[in-house]
Amino acid sequence: MKRISLLALVLLLFIGCRQAPKLYVVDETKRGLITDSAMVVSAREEASKIGTAILKKGGNAFDAMVGTELALAVAFPYAGNLGGGGFMVYRKADGEIGTLDFREKAPLAATRDMYLDEEGNVIPGLSWFGAMAVGVPGTVAGVFEVHERFGTLPIEDIIQPVIDLANKGVVVTKRQQERLMNYIPDFRKVNKDSIMFMANWKEGDTIKYPALAATLERIRDNGRDAFYKGEIAKKLVSFIQENGGIITEEDLEKYEPKWRDPITFEYDDLRVISMSPPSSGGICLAQIMKMIEPFDLHEYGHNSIKTIQVIAEAERRAYADRSYFLGDPDFVDIPLNALMDNEYLESRMKSFSFDKPTPSSEVSYGNVEVIESNETTHYAIIDSNGNAVSVTTTINGAYGGKLFCDELGFFLNNEMDDLSAKPGEPNMFGLLGAEANSIAPEKRMLSSMTPTIVEKNGKLWMVLGTRGGSTIITSVLQAILNVHEFDMTMQQAVDAPRFHHQWLPDIVQLEENAFTKSFKRKIMALGYDVKDYTLPSMGNMAGILVLPDDTLEGGEDRRGDDTAVGF
Ligand code: DON
Repeated sequence: MKRISLLALVLLLFIGCRQAPKLYVVDETKRGLITDSAMVVSAREEASKIGTAILKKGGNAFDAMVGTELALAVAFPYAGNLGGGGFMVYRKADGEIGTLDFREKAPLAATRDMYLDEEGNVIPGLSWFGAMAVGVPGTVAGVFEVHERFGTLPIEDIIQPVIDLANKGVVVTKRQQERLMNYIPDFRKVNKDSIMFMANWKEGDTIKYPALAATLERIRDNGRDAFYKGEIAKKLVSFIQENGGIITEEDLEKYEPKWRDPITFEYDDLRVISMSPPSSGGICLAQIMKMIEPFDLHEYGHNSIKTIQVIAEAERRAYADRSYFLGDPDFVDIPLNALMDNEYLESRMKSFSFDKPTPSSEVSYGNVEVIESNETTHYAIIDSNGNAVSVTTTINGAYGGKLFCDELGFFLNNEMDDLSAKPGEPNMFGLLGAEANSIAPEKRMLSSMTPTIVEKNGKLWMVLGTRGGSTIITSVLQAILNVHEFDMTMQQAVDAPRFHHQWLPDIVQLEENAFTKSFKRKIMALGYDVKDYTLPSMGNMAGILVLPDDTLEGGEDRRGDDTAVGF
């Protein structure tokens, strides 16, 4: 953001003003839930309530993370999980920051060409549906790792309310009814027997989860080993193998989450703290924000043609780099510093012009020394001491690969599709992956998940993230800019229409029914191809903003059943 010219700056200093003139005023009537000291925002009210109750009992944000993560596995089987993985970014009240990677891993028996036929073509659906699509789950190890390092309440006290919820059951919402109905044909195709989700559930019905409750009880009593070594591990492996998968007990036994350094960078007076590889989220966000910083978005206006041009062109360049350079840092060397270097990013934007687009065919990865889908969920937590946790968790597709383990009560992920089945060919979300993201045993798949925390002038300011496959990074970007550049409230920032560019396909994707025909005509006249984004929705964001008086504002995404709860 360069809000004012030098001449204007001199004039303003002359008349005694300290800041650039603001073109907008925050509309205080448009705030989301406001609370005094603590908050959880997640995809379901039941999960936000369990997280908040833990905070009320004196637990910290990390205890609440464990409760909320597990509660989502019960209340939001669409994406919440025991059979998937995710990333946590945290900032403690004393300013310490870090991340936990509990992403799934490719099984030991995975091979580079495991999804190709004899002619070397990708076998449709193999990395997407059923047992072959499953990556070694990381969620249970993730929550125990978080609890061991930072938790304060006994683990039984955190898990028990989740078990109670599973036994009591969860009421079906309208959206859930629609989703379940849409996926019944896939459930039928993938599962040998009928599963509980095929029962034509209607809004207002209560679904009980006794098998999941029993699994959680074993985890409560025997810890993470119950999942990775004990009875659950045995049952899970034989279930996966009976269905044609390749995961072994050794895979589960060897799974370890990893603490990693976050990606951090500055934008104006903000410091952004986000997820590092194997997520592309933090690096891409840093690249895009650094590329757009010199432009006066505040003056161009929210979702104006000029603003969208600048952002889409920066996104195009960042996603080109993403597809070439990024992958699991335990397997490939990622030139992190070079990719986030200011001079490099400035040179990447040299070809930008307001007169016409830079065709993606002319934008390759930069001269310095991927793959997604449709179900994931984000939650944001701040506790009353000011500890903040930002977590995105996923089984990748809606209900993962649709394979449901009846005996244990949960869906399995299809995260293997986030690896490049064939480097150089787009995946089902049109994202290209290169060698850096090719399949290898024990490799973590490249992700776009972007759990993020933002400081303003050194103080905790915002905690946010979203689901949405490849659009996650660009949605997180827009929510930050909506508050910082366009003076929206957290709730408005979440509500605002979104757009997205990912290099290839060379299209500006616009949230469905959110942009006018005249806007589309104008941007097309400049040479941009546009397309409505029609998947269920372009992300479901969860955000918390710390207001100047230290109260908290929740941003809950009304594109889903997301709910903020706090006190
Ligand atoms: O890790 C990733 O980037 C994907 N597996 C996320 C999938 C996702 O966000 C689906 N939600 N719409």
